[in-house]
Amino acid sequence: MLSENVAREMVQCGMNFELTEEQRMLREMVRELAEREIAPHAAAADKDQEFPLRQFRALASNDLLGIPFPEQYGGMGGSYLDYVLALEEVCRACASTGVTMSVQISLASAPLSRFGTPEQKQRFLVPLCRGEKIGAYSLSEANSGTDAAALVCQARREGDSYVMNGTKLWVTNGFYADTYIVYTTGDPGLRHKGITALIVEKGTPGFTFGKKEDKLGIRGSATYELIFQNCRVPVENRLGGEGEGFKIAMWTLDGGRIGIAAQAIGIAQAALDACVQYVKQRETFGKPLAEHQAIQFYLADMNTDIEAARLLCWRAAALKSAGEDHTRIAAIAKLFASEVAMQVTNKAVQIHGGYGFTKEFPVERLMRDAKITEIYEGTSEALRMVIARAELAVR
Ligand code: CAA
Repeated sequence: MLSENVAREMVQCGMNFELTEEQRMLREMVRELAEREIAPHAAAADKDQEFPLRQFRALASNDLLGIPFPEQYGGMGGSYLDYVLALEEVCRACASTGVTMSVQISLASAPLSRFGTPEQKQRFLVPLCRGEKIGAYSLSEANSGTDAAALVCQARREGDSYVMNGTKLWVTNGFYADTYIVYTTGDPGLRHKGITALIVEKGTPGFTFGKKEDKLGIRGSATYELIFQNCRVPVENRLGGEGEGFKIAMWTLDGGRIGIAAQAIGIAQAALDACVQYVKQRETFGKPLAEHQAIQFYLADMNTDIEAARLLCWRAAALKSAGEDHTRIAAIAKLFASEVAMQVTNKAVQIHGGYGFTKEFPVERLMRDAKITEIYEGTSEALRMVIARAELAVR
């Protein structure tokens, strides 16, 4: 694994685009696992909207759900770069399984690891790293998506508890998750300064599930509404201090965006792989598509864009591994990679022609799956705000 020191050296001493032998082995191991145990179920998970529980368990039994966390908490002791290498391979096989994994690691376990008390880590992080439990992150609401500080789900302090009332939306891993990091407010008028993060366990009285979203893509992943009605959560389940929730949410999304960049790259790579196979078989005008220059140019552009996106993603992951500021580069990596995923999957459908528009080939699913990478964990517009603000602060 890439240790923190090596990652720091990579960032400080210049460029090193080579993966270590261990990282190549990790990537190879995950690729084989994903091709064997995940890819064969991707089309059915999409068609039937079936949560990829079996695939999640395969990841857990190979210790892949704790990659970037310390061994003392059930993790692998690896780096964030190790994690994105693995995540790209999982997403190349099935984007629904990939987002389940990325929410578990980037959005639930990562803030517990960074902000949790030793007791919270033992109680909540260890079973997440081991894959014995599933995690979720709940920030968005009906009237607060990009404007995250506008959330109104209330948590009123009463003695040793918080009493929660409100509804959250678009919660990935919802219903199936055991451990939810829920962002609440003591006073909506305070906007970001009033936000507090609470760890809420499935089964807590007053915590129920509303509608399940019927989505365009990543249809195997579960996206649920959460409903809190006088739901009492003990104060010891508060993650960080009162009013510190917004910064925890933003810190978490900085890391999450690197994961979504990896997801976008995995989807794009899968589309390119499908095209390479198709153009060698399909003939037009007396020769394989692969021998037409128009098709070759498409493939070259797809390949170029994917490689560029991957380098951005790796750089963002290396900076995070080294403990360096990565807010801007994570936003850049996700913005670029998600737009590449849309362009590449669109071209992949075009290359397949009429066949690409049918469910006989995987590219239409990949195009539908790619779209969400431009929306969740920061729309492309929100990311442009983050990047521009960082840029303007520098100059
Ligand atoms: N890390 C730590 N702190 C941060 C931060 C970061 N990356 N970004 C901002 N902050 C801090 C600021 O320093 C500021 O602190 P002070 O009060 O001490 O100055 C505070 O947070 C407020 O910052 P802003 O003024 O920039 O806040 P804003 O209201 O203008 O928000 C925004 C800006 C960038 C648009 C932000 O709201 C945002 O990122 N929105 C997108 C939300 C998002 O990505 N949602 C995805 C939902 S989750 C999801 O999709 C999950 C899933 O299931 C897959």
